[in-house]
Amino acid sequence: MLLRLLLLLFAPTGIQSDWLSIDMPRYAYEGDEVVVRCSGEDNGKIRKLMYYKDQHLIATYHDASRHTISNAKISDSGSYYCKTERKKFWFIYVTEESSTGWLTVHELFPAPSLRVSSSQPTEGMSVTLSCDTRLPSERSNTELHYSFFRGGHTLQSGWRSSFQMSAIWKEDSGDYWCKAMTALHTVSRSSSQSHITVHRVPVSGAVLETQPQGAWAFKGKTLVFVCSVVEGTGDTTFSWYRENTKESLGRKNGRFQRAELETPEINESHAGSYYCTADNGYGLVRSATLNITVKIPVSQPVLTSSAPRNQAFAGDLLELRCEDKRASPPVLYWFYHGNVTLGNVSVPFGGAASFILSLTIEHSGNYSCEAENGLRSQSSETITLNVKEPPPKIRLMYGAHRCEGRVEVEQEGRWGTVCDDGWDMKDVAVVCRELGCGAAKHTPAGMIYLPEAEEDQPVFIQVALCNGTEKALAECEQIETFDCGHNEDAGAVCETFLPSSYKDTRSRHVADLSDSRAPDGPTVFPPL
Ligand SMILES: *[C@@H]1O[C@H](CO)[C@@H](O)[C@H](O)[C@H]1NC(C)=O
Ligand SMILES: *[C@@H]1O[C@H](CO)[C@@H](O)[C@H](O)[C@H]1NC(C)=O
Ligand SMILES: *[C@@H]1O[C@H](CO)[C@@H](O)[C@H](O)[C@H]1NC(C)=O
Ligand SMILES: *[C@@H]1O[C@H](CO)[C@@H](O)[C@H](O)[C@H]1NC(C)=O
Ligand SMILES: *[C@@H]1O[C@H](CO)[C@@H](O)[C@H](O)[C@H]1NC(C)=O
Ligand SMILES: *[C@@H]1O[C@H](CO)[C@@H](O)[C@H](O)[C@H]1NC(C)=O
Repeated sequence: MLLRLLLLLFAPTGIQSDWLSIDMPRYAYEGDEVVVRCSGEDNGKIRKLMYYKDQHLIATYHDASRHTISNAKISDSGSYYCKTERKKFWFIYVTEESSTGWLTVHELFPAPSLRVSSSQPTEGMSVTLSCDTRLPSERSNTELHYSFFRGGHTLQSGWRSSFQMSAIWKEDSGDYWCKAMTALHTVSRSSSQSHITVHRVPVSGAVLETQPQGAWAFKGKTLVFVCSVVEGTGDTTFSWYRENTKESLGRKNGRFQRAELETPEINESHAGSYYCTADNGYGLVRSATLNITVKIPVSQPVLTSSAPRNQAFAGDLLELRCEDKRASPPVLYWFYHGNVTLGNVSVPFGGAASFILSLTIEHSGNYSCEAENGLRSQSSETITLNVKEPPPKIRLMYGAHRCEGRVEVEQEGRWGTVCDDGWDMKDVAVVCRELGCGAAKHTPAGMIYLPEAEEDQPVFIQVALCNGTEKALAECEQIETFDCGHNEDAGAVCETFLPSSYKDTRSRHVADLSDSRAPDGPTVFPPL
């Protein structure tokens, strides 16, 4: 021990020689691995190798090991050298010193700055945070990792250098910052904090509406109360009330400008005044009052026609009536012939809708009506109307067959006679044609057909001036100046056809006529 101390004392120290050399990079970036290598002319002779930085011993090895700085820092910049003791003679040791190497460790990237797309956004806006920093061009492919924070709370961590909040809320106000770091977290820097103040827009313009729209509800149906505000952001509380009782019907809360309250199975007790309120913390706003009327929806309207058994004649006026007695007015009715709309009638205060048709043969067919009072429309059952040509308004009474006899014509439901003044074959021809008989044969006096006309039967036609081509006696020109009695009643004889060949619908029309129009009238068919 003493000997060794002596030797060391004698040995020349701090001798810089070429024997020990230092090998190290001049520059490095933070986080790099920096190797400082000291080696001698004969490494086998090194039994102790000491590394110094800025004159301070930083490491000692017992062989020719290199010194590794695994994660370089700025503070690792400085001057480096080594010392070793080598055995010169069998007992003499010499201290060798390397030359000095200079290391400069550069910053890998500066502290990031947090860029905020809007530092005073309004609620609901989208806000993007970007963590900006820059790598030297030699290290541009270094992958950085980014974290975003609000206060002490991590919002996002990963490779993305931006963080998007698709909608920001008042509660999100606060100090935001970010951190950029290398993959192994060897280098890590944080931005300074940026304060974000999120503005809330107070609610305004509250409106209460219903769905379906309109100030009415249908019994048995669902009514939806919709409360909305024109402006207002953030957490809003919507409430619905009945005005008279101030009773709350419901409440909804959320980040929306419109909320719905559903009321199923509406009944009469739901009629009344309603309003809603909205509040997002800056004072409550109230909607106007909405008065709700409860209506009974249409069920099925009933369609009727003025024609008995829905049989009618061309030329008649027909009234169609459509009504849904229970439905609340106003009710709108539509009338249909087959699939063709005839028209619509609005009934504002209840009752039946009426539609008048002036009938032609083409009006035969199926009719229906539809009623609607705000909800869906409902159809009646179909009625089938049969429109026929009107029966002839002429008959031959008490002849041998239906094509012979005293001429009688009908006016307004009464049967009267025709005066024979000027009565000729042309007139008879028209009568025969109108009755669907054969050719005119004679112009007999009406009196021969018994019994005679009743005393109180009128004489409807004084003088008929037919030219012979008319289809009916009523079409002939008439003169009304004479005053005839029943002793001047006209008669007519037409050819007739065999009954078997005369299966004429017209006779059935006549029969219908006697059924429906002159139930007490005389028999039209003389027995054959
Ligand atoms: C109407 O509806 C309310 C609530 O749905 C119910 O309490 C009430 O009994 C109903 N009234 C009638 C008359 O049906
Ligand atoms: C609603 O009805 C009340 C009475 O029930 C009436 O005083 C008020 O004027 C009505 N409001 C509207 C908007 O029709
Ligand atoms: C009505 O029905 C007829 C046949 O039934 C059809 O030819 C016609 O196109 C329909 N018209 C309309 C307007 O639907
Ligand atoms: C009702 O009929 C009238 C014509 O008579 C027409 O102008 C109107 O559009 C119809 N209304 C509806 C609701 O169809
Ligand atoms: C009327 O309706 C009946 C069934 O109700 C149908 O058989 C008939 O073909 C319809 N007539 C016309 C003209 O559409
Ligand atoms: C006969 O009378 C009818 C009806 O008045 C008229 O249309 C027709 O032209 C007349 N014919 C002759 C030949 O005068």
